[in-house]
Amino acid sequence: MADFDLNSSYIPALHKPSALLPVAKHRESLLFLIETNPVTIVVGQTGSGKTTQIPQFLEAAGWCSDGKIIGITQPRRVAATTVAVRVAEEYGCELGKQVGYSIRFEDVTSAVTSIKFMTDGLLIREALVDPLLSRYSVIMVDEAHERSISTDILLGLLKKILRRRPELRIIISSATLQADEFLRFFADGDATGSQPGAIITLEGRTYPIDVLYLEQATEDYVESAVSTVFQIHQKEAAGDILVFLTGREEIDSAVQAIEERSAQLSQGSSRIVPLPLYAGLTTEQQMYVFEPAAANTRKVILSTNIAEASVTIDGVVYVVDCGFVKLRAFNPQTSIESLTVTPVSKASAQQRAGRAGRTRPGKCFRLYSEDAYQSLPDITAPEIQRSNLAPFILQLKALGIDNVVRFDYFTPPPAELMLRATELLFSLGALDEYAKLTRPLGMRMAELAVEPMMAKTLLSSPAFGCLEEMLSIAAMTALGGSVFYADGNKKQLDGARRRFAAEEGDHLTLLNIYQAFVTKGKKESKFCHENHLNYKSLLRAVSIRGQLRRYLERFGLTAEIASQNPAIPKAESIRRCLTTGFFAHAARMQPDGTFLNVAGGTVLYAHPSSLMFNRKADWVIFHEVIESGKKTFIRDVTKIEKAWLLEYAADFYQLKT
Ligand code: CDP
Ligand code: MG
Repeated sequence: MADFDLNSSYIPALHKPSALLPVAKHRESLLFLIETNPVTIVVGQTGSGKTTQIPQFLEAAGWCSDGKIIGITQPRRVAATTVAVRVAEEYGCELGKQVGYSIRFEDVTSAVTSIKFMTDGLLIREALVDPLLSRYSVIMVDEAHERSISTDILLGLLKKILRRRPELRIIISSATLQADEFLRFFADGDATGSQPGAIITLEGRTYPIDVLYLEQATEDYVESAVSTVFQIHQKEAAGDILVFLTGREEIDSAVQAIEERSAQLSQGSSRIVPLPLYAGLTTEQQMYVFEPAAANTRKVILSTNIAEASVTIDGVVYVVDCGFVKLRAFNPQTSIESLTVTPVSKASAQQRAGRAGRTRPGKCFRLYSEDAYQSLPDITAPEIQRSNLAPFILQLKALGIDNVVRFDYFTPPPAELMLRATELLFSLGALDEYAKLTRPLGMRMAELAVEPMMAKTLLSSPAFGCLEEMLSIAAMTALGGSVFYADGNKKQLDGARRRFAAEEGDHLTLLNIYQAFVTKGKKESKFCHENHLNYKSLLRAVSIRGQLRRYLERFGLTAEIASQNPAIPKAESIRRCLTTGFFAHAARMQPDGTFLNVAGGTVLYAHPSSLMFNRKADWVIFHEVIESGKKTFIRDVTKIEKAWLLEYAADFYQLKT
């Protein structure tokens, strides 16, 4: 279910004729190559029409005639949804009819859908139910150059499936030249020695781009970005600005700074409108960035890496690049995975600059020095080499791939990461001592659409008598920190947080918010406003909760098992239950108020949005880790007892000592 009904706002847009896109000239040869080769690799610059046009070519050429569908995977949710909206418009159908999308917790497809956009992770999940992906006649793995961990795993799966389904067609599209590598991967191990595929290059048109550097490194790139935006606005000709920052918090604060400063612009000068673009936004909010700016207005899109290649925004003439990106990083010593702000690679910086030259000559302002650019790595290491592999190993096992070490990886992950993931899954009870998937627990954990630690927590909840509460908590944590909205009024926001605060920590606070929302907030529009709550996000939580509930119903887990001691208060049952899933994320507060991670001795700080910020605690578990500046923050933190760690995770902590 979509949390927003896009159909109601469906307006046929005026588009540049797709016949003018570079891909149009290659239509016939593309269709021929796809017809005659199991694997076709399409290389073309961003904006050449790969994502929006190729699926439509295939559909028109009859690839869906026998009820089969065309699937297009994207590494990012935002890309899957925005592109689906666009293609539905071009195709002339309501979203969710012939053209639809499916991402975790949001399925906008129907029985008549023949072109389906989705995240690569979702397609892997579909393979759990349909191991040969038999509904698909063609699968296009889009943005393969990003090398997301799900893309890498998917490539391995598709290679396996292709042996069983030689009629399946695979298209790999990539913005950069890694085509040979992809082809070699599919050719490797092919006993017939025949060429499994072909490469086609679409030449795209780009205009020259002036690249400008700072003379010296900046202390605060958010502030530099904002002042650069105003310099462009005052000195440069018309044209929209695309600013690359690393995440939601930076983007929100830059949007606010631009709004404040633009109020001081002299009367009569053209207006400037900042628009955020990041994954936590609702589908509706994301769509604003694609709308052309009003007359006499300059649009400034402040985006995460999403706009680097996955989505094309027309009208951008100026790019401001902060030079950083948030990347997943898993530390096997501490078993902590976090999003870490990291310098971009040269390839990324070039790709970002390229966003300025799509419609006419552009300019790229890099908020770093030319020397700093020269010292950047050429490319970014693939995600599979720096991620917590537990969710993927669990899925491979559930797909019947027992020997995960011998799986055909595009790039094999480091042995240490494999080991840590296996250890964690064992401690969670998803694998047995022979590293085989346990049933039903491990299998159910793989099927549930949340990461293994939360899956375990949810599946334990009936035994703790807190199933209903845990469903709400799981849904709220899935929102990824967008429960409150930020409009700069910190005092009001803090007041709102205090109103829902539960002494035991953030999870129970989230539960309070959820319960208040479903009893009051859904009906009274001013409830959310007064409490600084994000209405759209909370509606989404309601929808996510419903979906998680259906999973549990399917497993036959609906009634609480009242085996738990009734003398234990509900809040304690919830905290105990959380410990059964999140024991690996345990920490202890130090006298100075910081936390020490139990598994690896890292110093952690409570995130300012956490209830544990400035409060006393002893032992805690946490949901998420965010690196910012030099500090490691933990978010969604709840107090526990040390004894529970031994009670529920004896194995895990014995392994460590
Ligand atoms: O996939 P690729 O980067 O090769 O191009 P595309 O995403 O298919 O984009 C082709 C054209 O559609 C570009 O001119 C985009 O600006 C336009 N487009 C759009 O206006 N709105 C979207 N949501 C997606 C694409
Ligand atoms: Mg594309």
